[in-house]
Amino acid sequence: MAPTQSKQKARPSIVVTRRLPDAVEQRAREEFDATLNPTDTALTTAQLCDAMRDADGLLPTVTDGINSEVLGTSPRRAKIVANFGVGFNNIDTDSAKQNGIVVTNTPDVLTDETADLAIALLLMVARRLGEGERELRAGRWTGWRPTHMMATKVSGKTLGIIGLGRIGRAVAKRASGGFAMSVIYHDPPVSPADGRAVGADSRDSVEAVLREADFVSLHAPASPDNRHLINAERLAMMKRHAFLINTARGDLVDEAALVRALASKTIAGAGLDVYEKEPTVTRDLITMENVVLLPHLGSASTETRVAMGMRALDNLAAFFSGAAPRDRVA
Ligand code: 8YV
Repeated sequence: MAPTQSKQKARPSIVVTRRLPDAVEQRAREEFDATLNPTDTALTTAQLCDAMRDADGLLPTVTDGINSEVLGTSPRRAKIVANFGVGFNNIDTDSAKQNGIVVTNTPDVLTDETADLAIALLLMVARRLGEGERELRAGRWTGWRPTHMMATKVSGKTLGIIGLGRIGRAVAKRASGGFAMSVIYHDPPVSPADGRAVGADSRDSVEAVLREADFVSLHAPASPDNRHLINAERLAMMKRHAFLINTARGDLVDEAALVRALASKTIAGAGLDVYEKEPTVTRDLITMENVVLLPHLGSASTETRVAMGMRALDNLAAFFSGAAPRDRVA
């Protein structure tokens, strides 16, 4: 019998910039010539440029600034940047387009997790749950009494949503269906009928939402237009007893103005998962009891982080097979 020679096609090479869940790394090794990052330290711009020069594709995360310097690397082999995350403001998409580089994200798979976290932050800050836990752990709890740590009722209140996309809608459904909240929103491309389908009433401006809501939750993407969407002037429009929730991106909020609004009791409190200069958090926020601070945990369940990684690999696999990646954003 003539010996058969199987000529193996070279697998596309990818650089994965951070540690990913085991199942995702295993698939990356099986399907690609994958360079992983066992130390999990963020790559420098120079290392990202090297990756663009040497590999066919890049799988970065929110901690990687994929700017015009990285995308303009010359000579460059990489033709696709498959972001791990639905938000892709870490990538200069204009520069990607100019350089003919495809960009993808990972929508859908983290919608429920992020919506759950927005509701968790809302409940935590309104019901003073972080404060209560700190008191108990510090041994300061002296026992039940009727006036102990009285907080703010959530059920039946008005929730204002800025940005009624996938995550905003999931929050609206939870709030209206689960907590009998009146939900209002501002998002011009979303028709009032589409809003009503998830129990939310349209308002024609951000200001109208801010003036009416007891809780305001941000679900808009970060973009140069949305930078400091919530600034001092807009914080001053909120009710004094209102709370601000942000699980979207830090630069939607002027953090210094938020600190001033909280200190001067212009608003009652805030629940934050994202910050302007992550992982740095404005010092004053850390000392405030009426603020709940989480370390960007929106999508951080094992199931969802695996699904995000698989979705990014799906996008890479589709691209390298010559098909259109499902989640192309540039
Ligand atoms: C991700 C997020 O974990 O998907 C997003 O946009 O904010 C997070 O849930 C992060 O982007 C990782 O890159």
